[in-house]
Amino acid sequence: MTSTLRIRDLDKRFGGGRTLFGFGAEKPSVHAVQSANLDVASGETLGIVGESGCGKSTLARMIVGLLPPTEGRIEIEGQDYAERAGKDPAAFGKLIQYVFQDPISSLNPRKTIRQILEAPLKLLHAMPAAERGARIDDLLDAVNLRREFLDRYPHEFSGGQAQRIGIARALAAAPRILVLDEPVSALDVSVQAQVLNLLAELKREFELTYLFISHDLAVVEAVADRVAVMYFGAIVEMAPAEKIFAKPLHHYTVLLARSAPTVGRPLGAPEAEDAELPDPLNPPPGCAFARRCPAATEICRRERPPLEENGTQHLVACHNPAR
Ligand SMILES: Nc1ncnc2c1ncn2[C@@H]1O[C@H](COP(=O)(O)OP(=O)(O)O)[C@@H](O)[C@H]1O
Ligand SMILES: [Mg+2]
Repeated sequence: MTSTLRIRDLDKRFGGGRTLFGFGAEKPSVHAVQSANLDVASGETLGIVGESGCGKSTLARMIVGLLPPTEGRIEIEGQDYAERAGKDPAAFGKLIQYVFQDPISSLNPRKTIRQILEAPLKLLHAMPAAERGARIDDLLDAVNLRREFLDRYPHEFSGGQAQRIGIARALAAAPRILVLDEPVSALDVSVQAQVLNLLAELKREFELTYLFISHDLAVVEAVADRVAVMYFGAIVEMAPAEKIFAKPLHHYTVLLARSAPTVGRPLGAPEAEDAELPDPLNPPPGCAFARRCPAATEICRRERPPLEENGTQHLVACHNPAR
């Protein structure tokens, strides 16, 4: 497998340090992403799933250069990311682009769609004005939007249309990798399917690699070749999609799969009221899921399980994996 995106021991802490210029009390810190390791193959869709607050956007924002990591290394196509982004931001923008969750607020309200799509053509590709018109027409065609939309402003669009514009803006850079951060979560269910189909078509047409983030396991199941499950800042399970859905090994993944509502199937018993992510300012020792886990034993509350291979290409961080 040649990986186009390689992440090693990527870590992000927010806050921390001391008050009073370094002499006062220690400030609270949140360990939002904990030592993440990922390899994404060229042409692959890697799904990242986990509930709200588990660190998905923090991971995504580090990967696209919107947030500096506290520690760790990111390589794109064999090159050190930090070095490359610093030396040549335009080259970097042509490798990887981000699609935001909230389509309308991610577009500048004072710019027309034409201006929004022109920016990456000018800034990243130094494309002369004479060529930009045709390229913008192609981009609109690619996302199935009509040309008469070009001189309108973002607030004039529906969520689904705005997300198509967000996708067209990302494609304008002609990137190799798209990081899609909950790209359909803000959309109506009927529109979600259209945008997911569009993303699948674009991936084939432009030979893209996707990092597809969602809190919704059903959405990830529909799009991903491989799935990484995050819990409380850490990747707790990772496997090819068919393996993880056929036989999840982490009890958190089992819970996610069971609690996803499905038409025609009764809802499972709800979890206890206090079942939620631990306090990020006061993380528990051991496995962060232990308090919610039906299989937790004494070691789980004491020792944090490492992410290890358990069967072919199936990694899990669990002392007592499900069978
Ligand atoms: N800029 C920030 N400053 C402080 N804490 C943050 C910041 N951004 C995110 N966090 C915290 O990091 C954790 C992960 O957040 P996030 O990456 O947004 O999760 P997700 O995208 O999975 O919902 C949360 O506890 C969140 O409160
Ligand atoms: Mg998020």
